[in-house]
Amino acid sequence: MKKEKNIALEFDEFSKNYTSDMIGCVPHYTKLVSSFTEYLPENFNPKSILELGCGNGNITAQLISHFPNATFTLVDASAEMLELCRKQFKDHHVVFSNSYFQDFPFKEETYDLIVAGFSLHHLTNKEKQTVFKQINSALKEGGIFSYSDLMISKTNPDHPKLLKQWGDFVNAHFPDGEKWAWVMEHYAAYDKPADYTLQLEWLKKAGFSSIHLPFQKGFWVYLQAEK
Ligand SMILES: C[S@@+](CC[C@H](N)C(=O)[O-])C[C@H]1O[C@@H](n2cnc3c(N)ncnc32)[C@H](O)[C@@H]1O
Repeated sequence: MKKEKNIALEFDEFSKNYTSDMIGCVPHYTKLVSSFTEYLPENFNPKSILELGCGNGNITAQLISHFPNATFTLVDASAEMLELCRKQFKDHHVVFSNSYFQDFPFKEETYDLIVAGFSLHHLTNKEKQTVFKQINSALKEGGIFSYSDLMISKTNPDHPKLLKQWGDFVNAHFPDGEKWAWVMEHYAAYDKPADYTLQLEWLKKAGFSSIHLPFQKGFWVYLQAEK
């Protein structure tokens, strides 16, 4: 798979004010993070959890408070982001991998839960399809894959409307317009979102059953799929 060579450096820089920037720049960010624990089936008790693109650890922090005895594996291309996680989770059983998903050695039947928040839209459509297969094979039987993301392709007829609403949201938090300009620069350079209808097909092809969208506001989606 082709790698986005600069994404690690982009997120090293982004790590400085990451959470407040995400809350102000990503509609429903807090809900899309809390969804990772809110919508898990009752009595689901994962022992082994993998997060792809952990960033500064907001999703793992949620999961650790629910499943303190689980073993966590956190993967991220950004060394600075992983450093924030190392500090935050120093008292927990966490394995860190400073790696691109494309280089990460997914082992078969290893995890009960695999999560990804706002990280898979950095992959091309082909890479997404490959990683869905790797995720499926790395899950144990009955395991769950869940992810939050913007799920609309840039060619979708609704994309201009999405950009308008998104811009209004960001400008309401950062009225000087500079932050929205930065978001659009980042979006043009690094983001390759795909329609959720397409992703549902890819997930089925990768072997997932029972795929649903427990939270969806427009194209901001939290999706869950069972192996
Ligand atoms: C927008 S942040 C999301 C962080 C966190 N999951 C959250 O929800 O707040 C995306 C993260 O994915 C990482 N990332 C993006 N593409 C990646 C890739 N191909 N391989 C590894 N990490 C990647 C970035 O370095 C960044 O830390």
